[in-house]
Amino acid sequence: MIFSAAGAALGGLLFGFDTAVISGATSALQDQFALSDAALGFTVASALIGTVIGSLIAGAPADRFGRRPMLLAVAIAYVVSSLGSGLAPTWSALIAFRFLGGLAIGAASVVTPIYIAEVSPAAFRGRLVALNQLNIVLGIMLAFVSNYIIASVAPEETAWRWMFGIVTVPSILFLLVTLALPESPRWLVVRHKESAARAVMVKLGFADPDWEVAGMREAARRTPDTAAPRLFQAAYSVPVACAIVIAMFNQLSGINALLYYAPRIFELAGAGEGSALLQSVAVGGTNLAFTVLALFFIDRFGRKPLLYVGSVLTGLALILVGVQLESTSPDGTLVLAGLLGFIAAFAVSQGAVIWVFLAEIFPSPVRGKGQALGSTTHWVMAAAITWTFPMFAARLGGWVFGFFGAMMLLQLLWVWKFMPETNGVALEEMAVR
Ligand code: GLC
Repeated sequence: MIFSAAGAALGGLLFGFDTAVISGATSALQDQFALSDAALGFTVASALIGTVIGSLIAGAPADRFGRRPMLLAVAIAYVVSSLGSGLAPTWSALIAFRFLGGLAIGAASVVTPIYIAEVSPAAFRGRLVALNQLNIVLGIMLAFVSNYIIASVAPEETAWRWMFGIVTVPSILFLLVTLALPESPRWLVVRHKESAARAVMVKLGFADPDWEVAGMREAARRTPDTAAPRLFQAAYSVPVACAIVIAMFNQLSGINALLYYAPRIFELAGAGEGSALLQSVAVGGTNLAFTVLALFFIDRFGRKPLLYVGSVLTGLALILVGVQLESTSPDGTLVLAGLLGFIAAFAVSQGAVIWVFLAEIFPSPVRGKGQALGSTTHWVMAAAITWTFPMFAARLGGWVFGFFGAMMLLQLLWVWKFMPETNGVALEEMAVR
């Protein structure tokens, strides 16, 4: 079970690595291909556009053909995209390969969490699915570190090729591991392949596979027209609304704007002397440490308590940063403390909860489509906010952080009033809620 969960979570590692890797290559690309600022923006955005499309289209085939074939397709796309980006002869080839990488990231954000949720028992499902987030964060760190090392050893003209190309190594590892993964037992039951499902449950080490399979069969029978149920129908209105809302709040926290523009924000606060690496390590290390903490807390305290604490602390930290940046002489140390405090509070709450919650709130027959809806909402918001952030920051200064902070306090209200607790509930019981 742990091999299956950790193996699938490598899809998350590549999600993090591949989204962050470009941050180290932008100026080299601009020189190499003589790109205007707009063309550079498009180069960075090409992968992001891919994520929106990848997450949008991954759900239906995951429900139809199975989770494992989709994981395989994602792994192959990662290999081709990283090798191709490293060797790209022209700018358009690079764009095409980065777009393909984006497709893979988007699809991975759909398939990895549901696969892990479906091979896990309710008691530690949160912890196992949160391995995905741990891998995303680890991937972001790996990209920063590998970019830094490559930049200091490779000649300037070829460094960017190595930065992209090195991603081939974890991609091949992911491909090999995926070949050894079993199909999800829950998907097999929905497809009426119960003896295969039972064999997988035995392999995964479930104590009573017969009882588990009977429960899954029962749940599959209770849900409306199991062949190809529509997602948008009254029976699923609660999970549909929850998926959209949690994904929107995830990005309205400003997390990715902050991760991508952290060095500039530090400069704004007049604390820009530290090296870029040190800042990245501080940001990435905090993110990593508090994600590990989330792993321990998520099944013990539940999803909602983490979001209560996270909403309040992220909200306050963001408002602190906003107020500082608006003051006539911002205190660099307070800004740094606010930003790191925000990352820590985000990592222990929304960062881990989003992917767990999305993967468990939908019943099995529409889990792929439902996860795709949540994930696509996340990517559209991520793209919109990272694109517009520099513009809003230039016009509104610290108020942008005030806005993100206010959104987190609004999230608190949503968690309190509307969010259902999914902790410890069997996926089969979720179906009838
Ligand atoms: C969560 C967010 C993702 C972000 C990451 C950073 O996974 O959903 O957008 O990049 O956390 O830690």
